[in-house]
Amino acid sequence: MFRCSIGRCSGFVSGLGNGTRQALRSNGRSLSYVLGIETSCDDTGIAIVDTSGNVKANVLDSQQEFHTRYGGIIPPRAQDLHRARIHSAYERCLEEANLQPEQLAAIAVTTRPGLPLSLLVGVRFARHLARRLKKPLLPVHHMEAHALQARMEHPDAIPFPFLCLLVSGGHCQLAMVHGPGRLTLLGQTLDDAPGEAFDKIARRLRLYILPEYRLWNGGRAIEHAARLATDPSAYDFPLPLSQQRNCNFSFAGIKNNSFRAIRKKERMERTPPDGIISNYADFCAGLLRAVSRHLMHRTQRALEYCLQPQVRFFGDGQPTLVVSGGVANNDTIFANIQHLAAQYGCRSFRPSKRYCSDNGVMIAWHGVEQLLQDGDSSLRFDFDKVDIQGSAGFAASFEEQVAAAAIKCKWIQPLA
Ligand code: KG4
Ligand code: ZN
Repeated sequence: MFRCSIGRCSGFVSGLGNGTRQALRSNGRSLSYVLGIETSCDDTGIAIVDTSGNVKANVLDSQQEFHTRYGGIIPPRAQDLHRARIHSAYERCLEEANLQPEQLAAIAVTTRPGLPLSLLVGVRFARHLARRLKKPLLPVHHMEAHALQARMEHPDAIPFPFLCLLVSGGHCQLAMVHGPGRLTLLGQTLDDAPGEAFDKIARRLRLYILPEYRLWNGGRAIEHAARLATDPSAYDFPLPLSQQRNCNFSFAGIKNNSFRAIRKKERMERTPPDGIISNYADFCAGLLRAVSRHLMHRTQRALEYCLQPQVRFFGDGQPTLVVSGGVANNDTIFANIQHLAAQYGCRSFRPSKRYCSDNGVMIAWHGVEQLLQDGDSSLRFDFDKVDIQGSAGFAASFEEQVAAAAIKCKWIQPLA
């Protein structure tokens, strides 16, 4: 039996297996430790989190510097780097937490979605550990882990169910969240993800030429450059999917429009191949506003859908919105979404910045959430069944229902 301090799940969760109980009793405390392993893309993340949400260790080995040299992630190289680093990351993690492997209650690992070659490294390592230590193995959906992460830091403020906007380098999704493994998709991107668009546009703009941005991801560089703008309305950007009354997203139009505008300005200014347009800061500010506006519109419709009398998704609870994924680091985007949510009496949260982007903590925390929700039944010892998965959808989809509702909204404008 262990203490659950999360939201509505107050009280005790019972029915855990003997191995887990033993781990819980270690040190005489009612806590158990879950190890989380994240290798879905280019970060090797390993962390240990206890069932009260205390982070005991967080090791993150980024491959950003390596991939920046080649202008993007090369999957076989990412796999090599994960392989070379995962063991030492695990050892450093145990050392930082000051724990013995036997004290772990379970091992959680990302099995989907992600680069298959990268996922394989984490899953094989996790299987090997689980077998050797005789610990249960918990498969984790990477986007679900992003969605649940904010609950670790705001346990009482974010009870299930809540609405979540997931914005990362590979995904853009709106989902109703009921618990781990219990997400319902309301809308998703039809083409690029916002982080992907930021990364490609920043590269085309050649922001990496500026020393301060050399090793930054595109989204972070664009956010910083936008703060230097003097004329944020210098560039026009399209408003995607304005005729489609659903919650889907599209960033390809904004991206292609950006490429065209940069090229036009470069021709005008005769920018050399290793140069950058003069008003890049104005461009970044306009781009950020266009992306914010699109995210706001689709989220506004999702909120209105959830609040409909026939849906009443939040029941009698206060509407709650979580924004998560790497792009949630962006203060302008988050401030705009917060502003939108406030118009609907909806509270909004994001994980703290160190947990917005990929990391092992969110995987460990998803493991904790599985233990809290499912007790014994989440404890899996059939290790070979935990494998990387091609399909990475959520448990349910209401995309058709949202489209059928065809909600017309009176748009809330982005903050100035
Ligand atoms: O969630 P994440 O770490 O990895 C994926 O699951 O994709 O997200 C990475 C993405 C990158 O595309 C990066 O450009 C974006 O998050 N990002 C940002 C910021 N920091 C990271 N985008 C906008 N503003 C930021 N400050
Ligand atoms: Zn991610």
